[in-house]
Amino acid sequence: MKHFCVIGCPITHSRSPALHRAGFVELEIDADFQAVEIKPDELEHFVREEFPKTYAGAAVTVPHKEAVRKYVDAETDIAKAVGAINTLAMQDGKIIGTNTDVVGALHALRTGCEVLGKSALVLGAGGASRAIVYGLGKAGVRVAIWNRTLEKAETLAHEFQTEIVPSLDSIHPERFDIIINTTSVGLRAWESVFPADMWRANHVAFDMVYDPLETKFLSDAASAGAVTVTGDLMLVHQALEQFRIWHNITLEPEVMMRSFFTEEGG
Ligand code: ATR
Repeated sequence: MKHFCVIGCPITHSRSPALHRAGFVELEIDADFQAVEIKPDELEHFVREEFPKTYAGAAVTVPHKEAVRKYVDAETDIAKAVGAINTLAMQDGKIIGTNTDVVGALHALRTGCEVLGKSALVLGAGGASRAIVYGLGKAGVRVAIWNRTLEKAETLAHEFQTEIVPSLDSIHPERFDIIINTTSVGLRAWESVFPADMWRANHVAFDMVYDPLETKFLSDAASAGAVTVTGDLMLVHQALEQFRIWHNITLEPEVMMRSFFTEEGG
């Protein structure tokens, strides 16, 4: 039996075990997937000692996505570009770090629209924002970044050669086709970082928050007639990409989507 896990701190609410176990059941793969709480001061020992001995792969979540880079043997180009690892895999005895958030975010967004040649406004400049800003650039999308703390938007915009929006009050919403929330605003709270009166019917709204699935951000967008993309799609699609890396199999999204709604936590 092969062993997989997700590491983070805290880890009890991770959906990764449920998503991956759904794939094991569907394809009758002899494997298990555990949630393992690893504190920051335990990370080096886990990655260098325990991981190679016990596991074929691991998902990496908050707060380890950047710190884990120091302990892998090699990183993929995508992990280097994003500056974060969310997936570990053992390959020929070496610990490889990669990032499936980029592919996951783009797949999710493409369920709402064709992205090539479009213009996107990305709200937020944290870790989740880095992955989508990098991915959008690669996918031929013009990107503008807004962030509450302007300096962080400036740093990201400089690194990925994008525009900055200093204030949401000053924008013409018609300029944008796609509006993406990567901030934590709306997480277990009925609030939105994007002014409700700025939504237009031709917008595509993508919220990375998935608790709740219907956020105020998406609800305001839908009221204006915009297309909406929920955060569970990103989570599922980044897990599908992990599944492909670890098992060399492309799993149908529906297999994981079902587990998202049937299994709590995990
Ligand atoms: P993640 O890895 O999920 O992106 P993060 O790196 O902690 O998490 O980033 C959180 C993002 O949410 C940041 O862009 C943060 O803005 P600041 O850089 O100004 O802190 C944004 N954010 C959090 N709370 C916010 C709020 N109340 N209003 C606006 N933005 C907020």
